[in-house]
Amino acid sequence: MTRVRFVSADGTKESVVEAQAGARLLEVAQADGQPLEGACEGAMACSTCHVLIIGGDAARLPPPTEEEEDMLDFAVGAGRNSRLACQIRLTDDITALEVKMPSGVVNMGRR
Ligand code: FES
Repeated sequence: MTRVRFVSADGTKESVVEAQAGARLLEVAQADGQPLEGACEGAMACSTCHVLIIGGDAARLPPPTEEEEDMLDFAVGAGRNSRLACQIRLTDDITALEVKMPSGVVNMGRR
C-alpha cells in the first residue's frame, strides 16, 4: 500500500489516497479526480500526465528513462522533480509519495 498525497498546483488543496502496489500513479490520480488528462494513455507521447514528486519515498522510484526525460522537456513548469505519472508504478517499497500538480499542461500530441 502506498499513501499518496496529491497537492493542487496552487498548493491550496490536498487529497490523500491509499493505492495498491502495482497501480500506476496516473490511474491513482485520475481515480481521485486529479486534473491529469493522460491523453496518450501511457505511450509517452503527450506529457499531459506530468507531475512533480515533492516528497515521500521519491528516492525509491526507479529513475526516468531517456524517453521519459525527453518528453518532460516539453512539459510546462518541469523541474528536477518532474515525472510522467503514467510511467510510475507503485511498489510495496514506496510507502508514501507527495505529488504536486503542475502549473500548466501542454499536450504535444494535439499540436
Ligand atoms: Fe501521455 Fe503519460 S499519459 S505521456
